Amino acid sequence: MSETAKLNIQGNETELPLIVGTENEVGIDISKLRGATGAVTLDFGYKNTGSTTSAITYLDGEKGILRHRGYSIEELAEKAEFLEIAYLLIHGELPTKEEYTKWDNEIRRHTLVNGDIQNIFDAWPTGSHPMGQLIAMISSLSSFYPESLNPNSGEEAKMRTITRLLAKMPTICAMISKNRLGHPLIYPQNNLNYVENYLNMTFKHVTEDYVLDPILVRAMNKLMILHADHEQNCSASTVRLVGSSHANLYASVSAGVAALWGPLHGGANQKVIEMLEAIQADGGDAQKYIDKAKDKNDPFRLMGFGHRVYKNFDPRAKIIKKSADEVLEKLGVNDPTLAIAKKLEEAALSDPYFVERKLFPNVDFYSGIIYRAMGFPVEMFTVLFALGRLPGWIAQWKEMMEDKQPIGRPRQIYTGPVTRDFVPIDERG
Ligand SMILES: CC(C)(COP(=O)(O)OP(=O)(O)OC[C@H]1O[C@@H](n2cnc3c(N)ncnc32)[C@H](O)[C@@H]1OP(=O)(O)O)[C@@H](O)C(=O)NCCC(=O)NCCS
Repeated sequence: MSETAKLNIQGNETELPLIVGTENEVGIDISKLRGATGAVTLDFGYKNTGSTTSAITYLDGEKGILRHRGYSIEELAEKAEFLEIAYLLIHGELPTKEEYTKWDNEIRRHTLVNGDIQNIFDAWPTGSHPMGQLIAMISSLSSFYPESLNPNSGEEAKMRTITRLLAKMPTICAMISKNRLGHPLIYPQNNLNYVENYLNMTFKHVTEDYVLDPILVRAMNKLMILHADHEQNCSASTVRLVGSSHANLYASVSAGVAALWGPLHGGANQKVIEMLEAIQADGGDAQKYIDKAKDKNDPFRLMGFGHRVYKNFDPRAKIIKKSADEVLEKLGVNDPTLAIAKKLEEAALSDPYFVERKLFPNVDFYSGIIYRAMGFPVEMFTVLFALGRLPGWIAQWKEMMEDKQPIGRPRQIYTGPVTRDFVPIDERG
């Protein structure tokens, strides 16, 4: 294969180098394009633009492949612990037993948050959306740990900042739940593992014993692994972009959480359940909503369907669908929205509109059903996505910093008025 691409711009030919990845993906390196030709590329929504090289996650949307550092998501979801995946994403290799024990212990030692964090919670109006709170809480860690403000202050400080964020995230997420209910907080118990600790802090009451259900722990571990990273999506790109200005890790991840909140990204898991409930309240006619989604004059979209990259199936959705059936059966939950979800899926998968546009259920379509069966309120669903995605955001930020990538600063094609003279206000017609 030729190692360059030839581009002819208004009669001038330019050769551009090709970059070939380890999975033979081909990119045209346009970093010298503007200098050589004066032209820039334009790609709304970055549908054809690689923003970076990365050794973290490989995704083939046509074949439905997702791998982290070479390991398939199917195998990782089946066999690994969430913190092992966090280690893999952040450090590049699966940990040995010794490395894992050290990593796990380090994280367990940092689970408590500063008591003043509760003062921030106290200031919010009752009913504030959990995602707004999470954004502020993660960002506030930079105030409690000022050494994090300089992300270039050495390997040890960087790893301490990373460990703190990983360790405190479940505590903060559980505090959001407890504060919403007006219930006393449950402190972290460092004899519990990462997932158990989070479930305990969320579901235990100070007045009662709480026995962790191994079915819930396993399901939660799997869900968090399935969300752990997804290469250059909207939130990961946001983390990289904010981090590229050398803003600290807490600020960068907080920005990623903001990007995740939108219903076209992580916020879809909340919207899916709201949609399924609305369909059920409206008599459960799935076809009516399929027709609405197809009607170009109707803004309604089937939430949890479609994906920017997956155009065949979302491998995470396959695993989650199976897990949803198992969890609901084992917990003895009979959720009528699951039946509606199945009807919608069947109807959409056999409808030419969805088939032609390659619109398949994505990870958010089934995750909400499991979260609800576990007892999480709908407003917490996107927080759960963020909890799982945290290692991915950290890994993307760390790679971007270690690769010494320049500040992200896209160009534009200006389409406004050309130069004109200022007219004093009295003379404007
Ligand atoms: C995920 C999503 C934002 C991807 O967007 P995208 O790659 O920019 O794709 P587009 O919005 O250009 O959609 C392509 C076509 O499919 C249609 N489409 C995409 N998702 C659809 C949905 N969920 N319901 C109905 N139609 C949909 C679009 O109207 C468009 O049709 P057209 O070609 O006739 O104009 C989009 O599929 C979506 O909004 N899905 C619902 C939200 C969701 O589940 N997000 C979670 C993602 S993990």
